[in-house]
Amino acid sequence: MNFNVAVIPGDGIGPEIVAEARKVLDKVGQKFGHNFNYTEVLLGGVSIDACGVPLSDEALETAKKSDAVLLGAVGGVVGVDKWYELPPHLRPEAGLLAIRKGLGLFANLRPAYLYNELKAACPLKESIAEAGFDMVVVRELTGGLYFGERKTEEVDGVLTATDTLTYNENEIRRIAIKAFEIAMKRNKNVISVDKANVLDSSRLWKKVVNEVAADYPEVTLTHMLVDNCAMQLVKDPAQFDVILTENMFGDILSDEASMITGSIGMLSSASLSEGKLGLYEPSHGAAPDIAGKDIANPIATILSAAMMLRYSFDLDKEADAVEAAVKKVLEDGIRTGDIMSEGCTQVGCSGMGDAICERI
Ligand code: IPM
Ligand code: MG
Repeated sequence: MNFNVAVIPGDGIGPEIVAEARKVLDKVGQKFGHNFNYTEVLLGGVSIDACGVPLSDEALETAKKSDAVLLGAVGGVVGVDKWYELPPHLRPEAGLLAIRKGLGLFANLRPAYLYNELKAACPLKESIAEAGFDMVVVRELTGGLYFGERKTEEVDGVLTATDTLTYNENEIRRIAIKAFEIAMKRNKNVISVDKANVLDSSRLWKKVVNEVAADYPEVTLTHMLVDNCAMQLVKDPAQFDVILTENMFGDILSDEASMITGSIGMLSSASLSEGKLGLYEPSHGAAPDIAGKDIANPIATILSAAMMLRYSFDLDKEADAVEAAVKKVLEDGIRTGDIMSEGCTQVGCSGMGDAICERI
């Protein structure tokens, strides 16, 4: 089959990790008889440099017309990169928010899984790491604080900043349905995270999630306050299967979930719309300090490409092959610097891509 992939290398280590994911997709194409056509799209700092905005209308149109979008990383360093002298709506990250909104990517899936081989890299106590964990954070991605009205103004001579957190019941319902559908294919356990002891938006969240849960009698639903969830993630991560939460809480909790896997360099993500179009990117950032040195870990991007195969193209067996190859590479003791441990063989970014291709 033929698939059109919009590729957004972006900033920092983006181009090098995306190159490895393309290598892996091409290997999958060869092996299983598919053709991936790539169209490069500018987003973030590179787009500001080339056309003055972090995401041009043309770039968004190209992404819309594709079957899926593969993204590397976006952003630079505040105080170093001149992009951050621009007003907020013209900075690199604004491009990321614009493509999420523009493509209607309301559901962000961030799996966090502790590989047996990486247990030593887990920063938690050995007894907790030993139990392992396998969870997915389902984060609402196009609402809440990220997209509410914001302003900074002087009120009675005092500088005052306002951000607004709004959710309507439809936005909550569609992400809740997504989480329950995913839970049905996993361990049928949803923990919905909110701050219902304080926020109205969370009280509505809880009400709508309860309504959706009624349609999924096989799934166990628990509500958890976000502060407690932050604590439980480091105390007993094995209790989580699907974490369902709003945009801002999901941003924070997914970083925490990824850190306990040993390296943020391992964590993939998928951002899904109502249809088949999705955007796939690693959960980590642009890491400008290591860009261009061939030392970045491309596994998160490669696993994101696997999610693309599964969710946008319905190529489950191809996705399984990529995930199995990543597992095999780890079993074979091949490591990038961030996950290196004694007795293993250290490779660079492209070396890791090659090693994974060889095992597909
Ligand atoms: C993420 C990132 C983004 C977010 C930033 C770069 C705007 O942290 O994808 O988690 O906050 O959503
Ligand atoms: Mg984040």
